[in-house]
Amino acid sequence: MEIRSVGVVGAGQMGNGIAHVMALSGYDVILNDVDGAALDRAVEIIGRNLDRQVSREKITQSDKDAAMARISTTMEIKDLGQSDLVIEAATEREEVKQKIFDSLLPHLKPETILTSNTSSISITRLASRTDRPEKFMGFHFMNPVPVMQLVELIRGIATDSETYDACLAVVEKLGKTAASAEDFPAFIVNRILMPMINEAVYTLYEGVGKVSSIDEAMKLGANHPMGPLELADFIGLDTCLAIMNVLHDGLGDSKYRPCPLLSKYVEAGWLGRKTKRGFYDYRGETPVPTR
Ligand code: CAA
Repeated sequence: MEIRSVGVVGAGQMGNGIAHVMALSGYDVILNDVDGAALDRAVEIIGRNLDRQVSREKITQSDKDAAMARISTTMEIKDLGQSDLVIEAATEREEVKQKIFDSLLPHLKPETILTSNTSSISITRLASRTDRPEKFMGFHFMNPVPVMQLVELIRGIATDSETYDACLAVVEKLGKTAASAEDFPAFIVNRILMPMINEAVYTLYEGVGKVSSIDEAMKLGANHPMGPLELADFIGLDTCLAIMNVLHDGLGDSKYRPCPLLSKYVEAGWLGRKTKRGFYDYRGETPVPTR
């Protein structure tokens, strides 16, 4: 089945990035959110990020204009009903995703492939509550979507090979690379990345190093583009904590227990860049470590 149109649910950081790369690769995109202001913000951010690519001569102004023209927005989920592929990129909470699928399913054409950008929730469980577990899978982008080369494709236990192949063809048309993952907690990237971030928070909690020395150590000592605490702020500390909880609950091994300091930052509402405070304070001109 050839995919021509893509519905994206959720106009946050991931949703707007997904809409951006899909439209740039020639797909008609319809972006949905319950919050109209979030939709307006998403379109503005996509425009700004496309401008950045124009100014770095990665794309032309007419590529940008064509991509923007391919994106429409809606607050009505039923408007996604005719899409060939739907990617859900809403908040990383299972009950939220479940509600979205429940309201979307009655409007979908039978052949539509339904996917989730979840970074850790069981694809098999999400699929089992839909009318199309064989046409359901994980389509997991990395942040920032326009820059990161990888997409994880996750098969649920019932996903059929036509569905997998159709999604793989989309990843290839985007010019990205797919890593195929089986459906176990947090898949591949987050299974490895999140325990490293959690360990960095333990390193801070136990006073082994301060925020700046931990980040410098990993940037200069392991050639990571961002230090682990800077990266945690970039991803969102609530998301990091949610993924650690999925690993801890799903694998039952104490090595995945979330650091109490990570929980404390989340309880404080210091969720990283998006709330302007996390391991760094972003309210001034340059980020200042909070510890
Ligand atoms: N849209 C378009 N282009 C963007 C962009 C965006 N949102 N963000 C950055 N760019 C471009 C810039 O224009 C720049 O382009 P050129 O190479 O042509 O100059 C390039 O990306 C690099 O950006 P900057 O110069 O602004 O900054 P940088 O060199 O510090 O790189 C970064 C920024 C790409 C984010 C880099 O720091 C990085 O790779 N960090 C690690 C990101 C990472 O690990 N992501 C995965 C997170 S885990 C995840 O997403 C999974 C999950 O489920 C939680």
